[in-house]
Amino acid sequence: MKHLLKLLDLTTEEIIEILNLADQLKYEKKHSIPHEVLKGKTLGMIFEKASTRTRVSFEAGIYQLGGHGLFLSSQELQIGRGEPIQDTARVMSRYLDGIMIRTYKQDDVEKLAQYGEIPVINGLTDFSHPCQVLADLMTIREYKNKLEGLKLCYIGDGNNMANSLTVGCLKVGMDVSLACPSGYHPDQKVLDFAADYNNFELLSEPVKAARDADVVITDVWASMGMESEVNDRRQAFKGYQVSHDLLKHAKPDAIVLHCLPAKREEEITAAVMEEHANVIFDEAENRLHAQKAVMVKLMGNER
Ligand code: CP
Ligand code: NVA
Repeated sequence: MKHLLKLLDLTTEEIIEILNLADQLKYEKKHSIPHEVLKGKTLGMIFEKASTRTRVSFEAGIYQLGGHGLFLSSQELQIGRGEPIQDTARVMSRYLDGIMIRTYKQDDVEKLAQYGEIPVINGLTDFSHPCQVLADLMTIREYKNKLEGLKLCYIGDGNNMANSLTVGCLKVGMDVSLACPSGYHPDQKVLDFAADYNNFELLSEPVKAARDADVVITDVWASMGMESEVNDRRQAFKGYQVSHDLLKHAKPDAIVLHCLPAKREEEITAAVMEEHANVIFDEAENRLHAQKAVMVKLMGNER
């Protein structure tokens, strides 16, 4: 594994190895066991979109590993003035040991990896959010002690989260049921991947998707970059909400996840959000541990 560009590129074994290392790093952090395995390494963090969790967890994570994080807003880089990604990749490779990038086009992330000589980590594109889904899988395993055979239900937009959850969960042996309104389905590449699995379903009715689910997860109706569609989307996604009524159809011990930020009373009710806050904020915490594992795998010597 040279980069983390999208979960489609990873084998099941690679995903499980990252989760195992993330558990170990979490344990070491909780018990103040030093793990400065990236001493002297620098991670550049390019942001073309806003971020709270990704920015802070990567910056804290690389520091805890003994390295240094550089926050690079695309507006202040020459990228913002049109310098090609290919040139940025070659320049950054001369200074840094790894790049994390949050941007719009998946293709830009792929190009950065293609033209650069250092590991590239996708911190979210319109197509995928692999770091988040690694943290989600870690959280599911913490709460359920396994992944294989569990059913994940995703309600809402067929966006980057739906794409990455579908791929990640299927790869680790989970059943995946999505409920998305028509016109808001996941990316065709993801549907083509999922077509080989008989434990995947794309439905339009949330109640059917939630039936006997072990994990119920949702995401905002309008992702970053879709601000102009907010009103249309509010109409299209009416009823695609994680509420107490919906959860009656899931298993009684189902956990609820949300990558955050959440829009209360849109994709999730305030009541469900507060009731499941412990797991949702553990999920946010696990971004730190999962990403540290990714950085160690990509930027460090094999552990
Ligand atoms: N979940 C997530 O990626 O959060 P941020 O947008 O705050 O980074
Ligand atoms: N789908 C959301 C996820 C935010 C972490 C977005 O892309 O804005």
